[in-house]
Amino acid sequence: MTPLISSAAEVFAGDVAVPGDKSISHRALIVAASCIGESRIQGLLEADDVKRTAAAVAALGAMVERDGAGDWRVVGRGVGGLGEPSGILDLGNSGTAARLLMGVVASHPFTSFFAGDASLSARPMERVMAPLRRFGAEFVCRTGGRLPLAVRGTAEPMPIDYAPPQPSAQVKSAILLAGLYTPGRTRVVERLPTRDHTERLLRHFGADVTVEATADGGRAVTIEGQPELMAAEIVVPGDISSAAFPIVAALLVPGSSLTVRGVGINPLRRGFLDTLIEMGAEISFDNRRQEAGEDIADILVAASRLAAVDVPAERAPSMIDEYPVVAAAAACAEGTTRLHGLGELRVKESDRLAAIVGGLSACGVKVEVEGDSLAIDGTGGAVPGGATIAVDFDHRMAMSFLVLGAAARDPVRIDDGEAIETSFPGFATLMNGLGARIEEGS
Ligand code: S3P
Repeated sequence: MTPLISSAAEVFAGDVAVPGDKSISHRALIVAASCIGESRIQGLLEADDVKRTAAAVAALGAMVERDGAGDWRVVGRGVGGLGEPSGILDLGNSGTAARLLMGVVASHPFTSFFAGDASLSARPMERVMAPLRRFGAEFVCRTGGRLPLAVRGTAEPMPIDYAPPQPSAQVKSAILLAGLYTPGRTRVVERLPTRDHTERLLRHFGADVTVEATADGGRAVTIEGQPELMAAEIVVPGDISSAAFPIVAALLVPGSSLTVRGVGINPLRRGFLDTLIEMGAEISFDNRRQEAGEDIADILVAASRLAAVDVPAERAPSMIDEYPVVAAAAACAEGTTRLHGLGELRVKESDRLAAIVGGLSACGVKVEVEGDSLAIDGTGGAVPGGATIAVDFDHRMAMSFLVLGAAARDPVRIDDGEAIETSFPGFATLMNGLGARIEEGS
């Protein structure tokens, strides 16, 4: 255990880049593993979650090599060419790795075994097994659809047409990846659009992926199976979900100004920026460009007085990972912020709904949950703080409460900062370089 203590920052300012996008890093490795030839990935996130995917695609037969910091090469096996792994695929803490790779192996003719840490072993997998069974895959898992589990992939996959009951980019991606190796057209219909990195990346590598709007405002995504994927170059943008932590710290610490360079601003990921801007945040974009089918920009932030807002449930998929840090911002805003449609937060790396309520209450902030909605009574300035938060090996809860500490009257302590390595290596050093005061505690 590595306890960390975050004390009030005087000012939070500078010009930084954050590590590569986690979602895109997983997908880049997985899709490159199914290409013919050598793909080069630059800016890959070198955090524990992504290293698990790198090890897994190597175990499935791809050649994966690291040339330097963030600079990786993958020689793929061609679509459908992956082979049976000889050992167990241990995906650590990573739900994305587990669910996307279950999709990959479901339509390959071999058997694979999946395991993960205590958090991943408590997360629901039925949501991916249900559609993957329709392709013809079979599963043996623990009670309640939990890891560890075995996947018997099918030699004769059938394309499916499926509408997942919950908005989930992981479920959609598992289906699209299973569809990649399946003859014919596989279609996923989502009522609320979720992050579309898989679609963009598959297209970048030459797959035929089409997206149509549905009558009720959703999306239907279709992939034509068994394309010839050609190796490509990918530059992974900075992770907007990681950028969220210094962005919120800069907003909350008076007198601050911050530039975060080269961040992915995919419209289906930037819902929290829209929310913060509605709250009165001074946030702007500069130097907009495109890389590997993704929109990128530098994000400029100035300390701002924030006011409470109501965030509709429809926005949840585009800011799903940022609720903990938005909750920290809401805690310092003027008025009562209401966040709706938070059911999925209960099945993340920890029960984040309960963790936000427990942590903010311990820091002297009034919070109420009603169904899937949360009401946070902002203090209109620094929160009292002075609490120790048990983060339950959840990286985003850990970082969110360290951000809150920068804007709290008394320091905020987290019981363990180790989980931060799963997504944001160098977090404390980067934050302290900007003016945060995060130090190891006892
Ligand atoms: C992710 C999708 C989201 C998100 C997770 C990453 C992805 O999960 O919370 O951190 O890379 O596809 P769900 O699909 O479960 O909503």
